[in-house]
Amino acid sequence: MTYDKIITGGTVHSDTSSFKADIGIKGETIVAIGADLKGTAKTEIINARGKDVIPGCIDVHVHLALPFCGTVSCDDFDSGSRAAACGCITMVCDFAIPGKDQTLEDAHRTWLKKSKGISAIDFSWHMAITNKRHIKEIPAFVERGLPTFKEFMIYESEGWNSDDAMLYATLEKVRRHNGMLLLHAESPRVLDLLIERAHTPAKMKKHGARLHAMTRPNFIEAEAIERAVHWCDVTGGRLYIVHMSTGEGCDIIRNAQSRGVPVLAETCIQYLTMTDERFKEKDGHLYACCPQIKKAADVKRLWEALEYGNEVSVISTDTCSFTREQKAMWEGDFTKIPMGLPGLDTMVPLVYTHGVRTGRLTINDLVRYCSTAPAIIMGMGHRKGRIEPGYDADIAIIDPKRTVKVDWKRLQSRSDWSPWQGEELGGFAHTTLCRGEYLVKSHRFVGKRGHGKLIPRMLPGA
Ligand code: URP
Ligand code: ZN
Ligand code: ZN
Repeated sequence: MTYDKIITGGTVHSDTSSFKADIGIKGETIVAIGADLKGTAKTEIINARGKDVIPGCIDVHVHLALPFCGTVSCDDFDSGSRAAACGCITMVCDFAIPGKDQTLEDAHRTWLKKSKGISAIDFSWHMAITNKRHIKEIPAFVERGLPTFKEFMIYESEGWNSDDAMLYATLEKVRRHNGMLLLHAESPRVLDLLIERAHTPAKMKKHGARLHAMTRPNFIEAEAIERAVHWCDVTGGRLYIVHMSTGEGCDIIRNAQSRGVPVLAETCIQYLTMTDERFKEKDGHLYACCPQIKKAADVKRLWEALEYGNEVSVISTDTCSFTREQKAMWEGDFTKIPMGLPGLDTMVPLVYTHGVRTGRLTINDLVRYCSTAPAIIMGMGHRKGRIEPGYDADIAIIDPKRTVKVDWKRLQSRSDWSPWQGEELGGFAHTTLCRGEYLVKSHRFVGKRGHGKLIPRMLPGA
């Protein structure tokens, strides 16, 4: 067997074990794992001695160049994929959201234009169902390798919101056609009421951006998850709760799973590393995202779920970056803050630092939550999420001794601030390969714009 590249001497980590091995790569694929693999004169040797070698991570929740909140999120497939690669991520899943009166087919075309020939890393997207007419398009998208769909319980002003009838009908449809529904779970009517009550000049003067957090108490998420779990239970349609931020959410998911309800949940790195105390800072409005970052007790409960339970299956970023100038559009009105945070550069380093280095998680847990589980759950587990012969050569190498102080100026994201500015983090990529091609070499991005491909997906059970 001849190899184009051999990664030698590193410690290879899967979701369940760690072992010393060499990795042989030919073209885009891993073709061998073993001791002392031998190359030819043409084989490139990548020395990983003393380093952690993990499967490329997969962020299944990003919004790149998304028209939202009266502006467009500032990271697109160019900057977003560069940021991802430097943070050990080799594939992202975005959300293709139809505009007013558009079909899913229209949205698919728009997202192809945004990504193909631009993204340095592999990609796919979940199709957003924003109108009941979209439900009949579901089977065709499952067939063509896009088997995951998204609904939002909120965002009426964007024209994206679903009601219970749409949720129910979508779950029925995905059950029949082997798809899965991803859900933004926040209770819209009570949330609207709380916002309306808080939206007075006097309250806005007194509390400023803190009202964004104050109008989203935990029960707003909990009630929505509870209701969605009910529709999941009665229809049998697979449900995945995105960006779960509360301890109550964890309890509801655990309880539902123990009854055999086919529901899974992801959390995001912001819910594991920050609390709403951030709103007390001078530029507190920057932290507005949706759902809101919560309390210390929620952070603790989410980490416990990752350490001991199954109620959280995936860690993602929900990247939706806005610059300071974009965030300034709020002008003192908490309902006008563009909602979302940057995160692709820093997610894996944050899990590595707050999880692995503290001993809360093993590096195998990191691989599970950031690579293997998202690959399996989203339907690309047959080629991504593992370092095994036959799998795509998507690999990240981390120098465990290296720590970097986060400075947004040195990140690839176009955001001109970072929620983690000044934090000392390990876990940035020394080397990243995506299908055998270098994206990062000696901590520097060297990838090619347009290397990324749309990866067809098929959910387990088909
Ligand atoms: O604040 C966020 N998360 N913005 C992106 C849209 C969403 O709800 O995921
Ligand atoms: Zn959302
Ligand atoms: Zn999102």
